Amino acid sequence: MEDNFKVIQEVISNRRSVKPAKMNGKHIPDEKVYELLKLADWAPTHKITEPWRFIVFSGDKAKAFCLEHAELYKKYTPAESFSQDKYEKFAGNGNYISHLIIAVMKRSLTVKIPEIEEIAAVSAAVENLLIGATASKIASFWSTGGMVHSSELKQHFRLNTEDKILGIIYLGYTDTLHEGKRIIPLSEKIDWK
Ligand SMILES: Cc1cc2nc3c(=O)[nH]c(=O)nc-3n(C[C@H](O)[C@H](O)[C@H](O)COP(=O)(O)O)c2cc1C
Repeated sequence: MEDNFKVIQEVISNRRSVKPAKMNGKHIPDEKVYELLKLADWAPTHKITEPWRFIVFSGDKAKAFCLEHAELYKKYTPAESFSQDKYEKFAGNGNYISHLIIAVMKRSLTVKIPEIEEIAAVSAAVENLLIGATASKIASFWSTGGMVHSSELKQHFRLNTEDKILGIIYLGYTDTLHEGKRIIPLSEKIDWK
């Protein structure tokens, strides 16, 4: 058990957000990504609503979706807040990544639990996936940039209005890893009575 803890401790503390531009374009086998999704599926879920849904784009399809995302951003962002740099970044992400996953919270229509609990369950599922990626030397990036919180992206994927997109998860391999940092000391985050 203690050995398991050490492994988990190392993997969790070494998980880093790696921007797509720092990924190297190498392809992850689809089967490996499926294994990561299997880990996501083991997240805790109140009343077993299992609210996580994943829309997965692999290889050329991931690249194509990055272009689509950039075009949606251009189309629906008011001119005064539109940034050409962001447009190019969203479009260019596809040159470096291997897979892209849209993480969705599918609101249960039958079991009524507070929405926050279904968001929490999907967040736990995403973290499982990211930890599995780190353990497999796969770089990951959870992004809420661009159109993630927009109704237009929800419509694009024909989701219900009650559903929520919690992020775009970019996956790939990287040649450069950076140190993690936390600013607030853990002691200030804990009120140990
Ligand atoms: C819900 C969520 C959304 C995020 N969205 C973005 C984002 O849009 N852009 C970004 O640069 N990083 C985003 N991040 C990643 C954080 O910037 C990153 O987790 C933080 O800097 C800590 O770095 P670490 O993940 O390497 O520990 C997001 C993280 C979470 C949990």
